[in-house]
Amino acid sequence: MTIVVTGATGPFGRHAVESLLARGVPADQIVATGRKIEKIADLGVRVRHADYDDPATLRAAFEGAEKVLFVSGSEPGKRVPQHRNVVEAAKAAGVSLLAYTSIVNAGTSDLILAGEHQATEQLIAESGLPHAFLRNSWYYENYDFAGAVENGLFGASGDGRISAAARPDLAEAAAVAVINGEARVYELGGPGFTLPGLAEEISKVAGKPVTYTDLSPEKYAEFLIGVGLPEGGAAVLSDADRGAALGQLETSPADLEKLLGRPATPVSDAIRAAL
Ligand SMILES: NC(=O)c1ccc[n+]([C@@H]2O[C@H](COP(=O)([O-])OP(=O)(O)OC[C@H]3O[C@@H](n4cnc5c(N)ncnc54)[C@H](OP(=O)(O)O)[C@@H]3O)[C@@H](O)[C@H]2O)c1
Repeated sequence: MTIVVTGATGPFGRHAVESLLARGVPADQIVATGRKIEKIADLGVRVRHADYDDPATLRAAFEGAEKVLFVSGSEPGKRVPQHRNVVEAAKAAGVSLLAYTSIVNAGTSDLILAGEHQATEQLIAESGLPHAFLRNSWYYENYDFAGAVENGLFGASGDGRISAAARPDLAEAAAVAVINGEARVYELGGPGFTLPGLAEEISKVAGKPVTYTDLSPEKYAEFLIGVGLPEGGAAVLSDADRGAALGQLETSPADLEKLLGRPATPVSDAIRAAL
């Protein structure tokens, strides 16, 4: 059996490859792909160059693949044509499972970020390939815990619950889902927090009070631009907080914990590691 992992040069894909190995998949049955493949020479698995913008590289990278773990690209605005290339290459290879890292609640979400994931899910469904959607909620790694200790935590999600999880947990769950090979939708998140609750958790770990300031999405976008984010990135993040206030980043931890076979990593561990 050959499992191809795309985006293996990023932290999510790298951890997924390490999890496949840890769960007993032989190294010669794993193909790790990406553009900057010099970053993954140390993984000890087969490595192939694959660029989502270049269909020929994808076709070559997927040769002999039985399953593909398709890690979504990181260039918002370009992802639908890029992802179409990946789906077409998987179809040409005739894979028995195409597992795609989507966004939590993709079926109903109106987040700006959800649009490209929804379009990709549709391309995959239309391909007729057996598929799994790994609909990930927020990574803990999106938060600057050390910065929050210095300056307080800012956001626009009010009391909305965010089912964030550790990126390595989500990647490990993706690896298990690919090994299991079930064609289904997973909604993947941790036990979660509200941002006022997160400020309390950070306070406990840091041993000093951390405040949470809730802003309107417009003011939060201005705040993010003020701390150096480009306008587009600020718009996407403030929109995500707008949706989070409505529960769009919330899900049960059941799917994640079932795949992991253990409780999800608590946010306090991630805060401790970051501080
Ligand atoms: N749920 C969340 O909170 C959250 C947060 C951030 C991102 N994400 C999504 O999750 C994905 C994985 O997360 P991550 O933290 O590992 O992201 P990351 O560090 O941005 O890594 C992105 C990966 O995608 C690959 N990639 C991007 N464009 C590509 C292209 N044109 N052709 C081939 N490979 C391409 C990169 O390969 P190279 O480095 O070799 O170019 C890299 O391996 C991201 O790409 C994004 O879609 C989710």
